[in-house]
Amino acid sequence: MVEIDQKLADLAKEIAKKAHAPYSNFRVGAALITDSGNIYTGCNIENASYPATICAEDVAVFKAISEGETKINTLAVACIDAESDTAIFPCGISRQRMSEFNTENVIVVNNDGFKKYKFSDILPFDFKF
Ligand code: THU
Repeated sequence: MVEIDQKLADLAKEIAKKAHAPYSNFRVGAALITDSGNIYTGCNIENASYPATICAEDVAVFKAISEGETKINTLAVACIDAESDTAIFPCGISRQRMSEFNTENVIVVNNDGFKKYKFSDILPFDFKF
């Protein structure tokens, strides 16, 4: 599904423009597709009380789950302020949140394109009970 992967990568870069990141100036975007085929996006939203900041991936996950989705197929993440060849991976807390909804793949975007990883390769032995 290369076209869907490209679409998610493009959407992640696009939504990053909406980030509220006045403290880090590090704008992140995420776009995910659920097993039902719906797409949700998110950007990082920072706060003057720094720990209240929320990651782009989490915003996309919360939007999807709060709309009734239960299973994430693929999530793409992009930072439009990183160096040209720098791709960012989801932080640990975001990975744990993605694990909760059985995410299968992660797409990491940089200026040259994107790379797709199996979720189990970036978070092996994830915590569930
Ligand atoms: N950030 C994300 O949105 N996703 C990540 O996976 C890592 C970090 C955001 C949080 C903060 O607004 C900025 O990047 C710098 O840490």
